[in-house]
Amino acid sequence: MALIEIAHVQKAFGPKVVYRDLSLSVERGETLAIIGGSGQGKSVMLKLLIGLIPIDAGEIRFDGEVISGGSERDYAPVRQRIAMLFQSGAVFDSLDVYENVAYGLREHMELSEEDIDARVRRALENVGLSELRRAWPTELSVGMRKRVGLARAIATHPEVILYDEPTTGLDPIRIKRIAELIVRLSHSLEVTSLVVTHDMESAYEISDRIAMIQDGGIIFSGTVDELRHTDDARVRNFIEGNAPHDEDVEALLRSAG
Ligand SMILES: Nc1ncnc2c1ncn2[C@@H]1O[C@H](COP(=O)(O)OP(=O)(O)OP(=O)(O)O)[C@@H](O)[C@H]1O
Ligand SMILES: [Mg+2]
Repeated sequence: MALIEIAHVQKAFGPKVVYRDLSLSVERGETLAIIGGSGQGKSVMLKLLIGLIPIDAGEIRFDGEVISGGSERDYAPVRQRIAMLFQSGAVFDSLDVYENVAYGLREHMELSEEDIDARVRRALENVGLSELRRAWPTELSVGMRKRVGLARAIATHPEVILYDEPTTGLDPIRIKRIAELIVRLSHSLEVTSLVVTHDMESAYEISDRIAMIQDGGIIFSGTVDELRHTDDARVRNFIEGNAPHDEDVEALLRSAG
C-alpha cells in the first residue's frame, strides 16, 4: 500500500483551475522529485497534503486513512507525521537558531525540556549547524536559513518531509550540499521525501522517481532513466530547455511581439 495516495483531486481558486485531475501515489521510503513550470501547482500540491488548502473534489489518503476534508483538529496528528519545509523558509528572525528549531516541538508536542533539548541538538547536528545554535537568523546566509528550516522539520521526527524548492536562491556548491543532505536524511531517518524543485541536476541526483505537473495533473511519473528517454514533447521541452513554462511570461511575450 502506498504511504500517500492522491486520487482524482480537483482544485480551483475562483476561476483559476489549478488541478483538473491530480492523481499520484508515493511509496514509503522513496524520494520523489516534483518538477513543473512556475504556477503549475507544485506548492499547492504540498499544501493540499497537509490540509493548509482544502481540495474541491477527489481524495487524499495517508497511511491508509482518508485525510482530505478534515477539520484543523483532524489535521493536527497528520502534521506531526508530515513536516513541510516552506519555499519562503519560514524562519523566525525574532528567535535564535536553537529556539527556531525548538519552536515546533514546544508548540505541538508534549515533550519534556530534556527531550526537546536532545532533539534540537540532534537536528542541528544533522544539518551541520551545531556551532551556530545561538546565532540569529538575520546573521545567516540563505543556505543556512534553509538548513534551520530543515532542522526544525526533522526535529519533529516526521515520517514524511515535504521540501518546497530547497535549493532555490543558493549557489552551486550549496545546492549540492542541500541535495546531499536530503539524500543523507532520507537514508538515516528512513523518511519519505517529496521535493519540489526547479533544478534538474538536483532532481536527478536525489530522486528515486520524478513526477512532472502540468496542465492540471501529473503528465509524467517515472525513474530518472525513464524521464531522460521519454518521448512526451511537453516533458522533453521542459527538461531540455529547462524552460520555465510560465503562462504569464508567455502572455507578455505574445502581447509584446
Ligand atoms: N492561496 C491561493 N489563492 C489563490 N490562488 C492561489 C493560491 N495559492 C496558489 N494560487 C495559484 O495557484 C497556481 C499554482 O500556484 P503554486 O504556488 O502551486 O505554483 P508553483 O508550481 O509552486 O509555482 P512556482 O514554481 O512559481 O513556485 C498559481 O496560479 C497561483 O497563483
Ligand atoms: Mg511554488
